[in-house]
Amino acid sequence: MDHFLYRDGALYAEDVPISEIAAAVGTPFYVYSTATLLRHFQLFDDALSGTDHLVCYAMKAASNQAILKTLAQAGAGMDVVSGGEYLRAKAAGVPGDKIVFSGVGKTADEIRTALTGGIRQFNVESEPEMEVINAIALELGVVAPITVRVNPDVDAKTHAKIATGKSENKFGIPIARASEVYARAASLPGLDVIGIDVHIGSQLTELEPFEMAYTKVAELTEQLRAEGHNIRRLDLGGGLGIPYTRANDAPPLPVEYGALIKKTLGHLGCEIEIEPGRLIAGNAGLMVSKVIYVKSGEGRDFLILDGAMNDLIRPAMYEAHHDIVAVKEPVPGVEQQPYDIVGPVCESGDTFAKERNMPPLESGDLVAFRSAGAYGAVMSSEYNTRPLIPEVLVHGDQFAVIRERPSFDEIINRDTIPTWL
Ligand code: LLP
Repeated sequence: MDHFLYRDGALYAEDVPISEIAAAVGTPFYVYSTATLLRHFQLFDDALSGTDHLVCYAMKAASNQAILKTLAQAGAGMDVVSGGEYLRAKAAGVPGDKIVFSGVGKTADEIRTALTGGIRQFNVESEPEMEVINAIALELGVVAPITVRVNPDVDAKTHAKIATGKSENKFGIPIARASEVYARAASLPGLDVIGIDVHIGSQLTELEPFEMAYTKVAELTEQLRAEGHNIRRLDLGGGLGIPYTRANDAPPLPVEYGALIKKTLGHLGCEIEIEPGRLIAGNAGLMVSKVIYVKSGEGRDFLILDGAMNDLIRPAMYEAHHDIVAVKEPVPGVEQQPYDIVGPVCESGDTFAKERNMPPLESGDLVAFRSAGAYGAVMSSEYNTRPLIPEVLVHGDQFAVIRERPSFDEIINRDTIPTWL
């Protein structure tokens, strides 16, 4: 459920008409609903109630500080994957002891930044990284809390580009080698080995792969404990999918996911962390765009929008589907017609949807891409010297621009010209 509904013939974000935001900030733009963000966070928090836990929002999904602050004030921790994300979380007021640091190639500088500023734990992804964390901790005179990310060799049954839990993927250490790696970790004086981490992929639409992975983690916990390690925290990653089409897909609910966690791991008495990103932010955001032209092509009509692949890359990159709706509510019973919905960027990949049934639209009409809150704004670029589009946060009947659209001067003046030119 989200808070983007039609009211009096027009699409609203909570209590604000989308057209009012468009008039104020121009198009295209992203808009997020505070109530939806909080509702989704709460679903996870409630799903783990009765268990010692922390929901660490995977901020890579949507990392604007206003979003981070909204979630942090509700009690969320953060999962970061770079020094930049770490500093952004800190800037939004998240304390270091609520930040977990994931990511397959943490640099010495990033590790130093986190150890200096305070960190809940590093999720270690390789043996060389473990050695570097140890060395830097010793240099700084601190002890680094770590888990080791294990790769359980489980098929997440998701898009190949976002599956991470098979042995051929670059993530984690093979679970079969865990014993050896934990023994080495325990021998390093700069490390405090507190638990196990796993993350098998994103946009999972079934519980079964989670169940297989978590069952392996349960077995590993018992094995490592028997080998003398004080395993007391399990980080279970993110990955629970969202419905991208209103019509027919219904991934498992957070409450069912929480029940699975309790069933597979509850008996171990460990503190549980999860790192959901998409489910918290995805359906809490829209990308709103304007029709520039309607062009009649060979056997098809093109809807040419002012938003493009640089603003929302998911369709071009993952063949992802986003529902696209007219901001003016279609008159009931109006005959829909198929459009190819495209942006103005000069490549055919800049296509959002083919033969998508829409109500008749004309130049100047607004459309909204649903489920665009996660991996939308954060993956945008200035390709074609198109400015990054603004982000807007709605809260009840209020809205605020939380990232401004840069001017062309700001973009162009970022280049510096060598003296020989
Ligand atoms: N934890 C780790 C270690 C991750 O790598 C990820 C996502 C998450 C948590 C959050 O997963 P989520 O709950 O959002 O599924 N750009 C792609 C998605 C990439 C996901 C990368 N890792 C997309 O637009 O579909």
